[in-house]
Amino acid sequence: MTRKKKKIFSGAPPEKVAEDLKPLLQFKEKGMPLSELRALLEQHLFPHLMDYEQPQFQSMFNTVPEPGAKFGAVLNVQFNQGVTNWQVSPGGAMLEELCCKALCLLFGLALDSDATFMYCGTYANQQALYMALHRYAEKQGFDLNQKGLTGFKHPDKLYVLCSQDAHFSLRHAVRTLGLGEKSLVPVPVDSNRRMDEKKFRQKINELGRKHIFCAVVTAGTTPFGSVDPIAGIAEACINEDIWVHVDGAYGLAYSLLSEWEHLFQGKELADSLSWDPHKQFGVPIPNSLLMAKNEKDFERMTLYSDYFNPRQDPHPNPGLKSAPSTRPFSALPLVTSLLHQGLRRAKHRLRSPLEAVRRAALDIKKEDELELNVKPDTGILCFRVKPKDFPKEKLNSLQEFIYEHVMSQGEHTLSKTKLGEKTVLRLVAVSPKVQSRHLLETAFLCRTVAQTY
Ligand SMILES: Cc1ncc(COP(=O)(O)O)c(C=O)c1O
Repeated sequence: MTRKKKKIFSGAPPEKVAEDLKPLLQFKEKGMPLSELRALLEQHLFPHLMDYEQPQFQSMFNTVPEPGAKFGAVLNVQFNQGVTNWQVSPGGAMLEELCCKALCLLFGLALDSDATFMYCGTYANQQALYMALHRYAEKQGFDLNQKGLTGFKHPDKLYVLCSQDAHFSLRHAVRTLGLGEKSLVPVPVDSNRRMDEKKFRQKINELGRKHIFCAVVTAGTTPFGSVDPIAGIAEACINEDIWVHVDGAYGLAYSLLSEWEHLFQGKELADSLSWDPHKQFGVPIPNSLLMAKNEKDFERMTLYSDYFNPRQDPHPNPGLKSAPSTRPFSALPLVTSLLHQGLRRAKHRLRSPLEAVRRAALDIKKEDELELNVKPDTGILCFRVKPKDFPKEKLNSLQEFIYEHVMSQGEHTLSKTKLGEKTVLRLVAVSPKVQSRHLLETAFLCRTVAQTY
């Protein structure tokens, strides 16, 4: 008898999920005891939540909390501290300030670097671009905080360069900054899907260096996990006085591993870096950071008010470095996670899925009817199922079919992306529980499903 696998989620379509959730929105005059409430949620909501704990969850960057992080997160809920200001939490504000400094050092930045916690990588990238634009405005002799875009002589010619595979949060960033998506200029990638350094330099010449205010280097692209050449790009930018932002929301954590750190060479040259501990680091959502090489760079974000963060306040007010005046005490679960695990175990947690992806990539290469599409730099594996004598023009539709079928079963999750014109299947390994055999199991399942197309 074959044992039925545990589901990762129901696999139900949106209509069914909506139907199941309806009772949760029927608010009544009379409340219910928590035990009853729990039973209601167990019945109606839980089946449709994703169980990240299972190694067959291979679609996105989410993880269950690491136990030390969970410990800190539970305390967070208990104390519910605001942390942007000394008056709302001296311990919270100070721990956050100290933690930011300690993390900068952990990532090899200099003593005068600093960081701020953010809600998510998207906002970290957005703030980095704002700080970059501010410095660019200063060089043109005005204060962006006061004059806004009207201070620029050529507001239609303000460019950000990034990899063609950069995360869409950068598009959000240029939209919100009022620059429009036309200001975001994609640079082609090489065969490893890393931003092509030569083409990057060509783009600088084409656009005119004086119009480029920022270059974003992605350290771990979202679709393929590739790490752009940070040192080479940074060197080109320093010569041209262009702000360098490293979007390491996904990948920066891997720079802590000795076997992978060479990929991140030059990160200390960047003006700013973003990192999401709420991804593979296992710290509960929301937990993101924006680091800056020079602590003074954050002064561009500073806003004082008479009642909150006043100008002459001698106390530490972390809220002076970013926009929210209320946000979670994100430093606590990150600190408790590192204290509980110790650096050695934390690194092992990061390393193990990367090793699994490396091994699985080698095996997939040897398999009939499976095609490895990109040599993985980090924890993402992209492949296609290519049955023998299968019509080339139907290959994309085959991958779509496989994706839909596998997801509808709810026992394995995967994702898909585009590689030029090709649709490819994408497996992500962030949890230390994901071993190469789990990744291969999903790839083989895809090959089997292809037979039913
Ligand atoms: C490279 C990269 N940058 C930015 C982001 C956005 O981060 P967040 O989801 O925390 O907003 C992601 C998310 O996957 C990412 O992979």
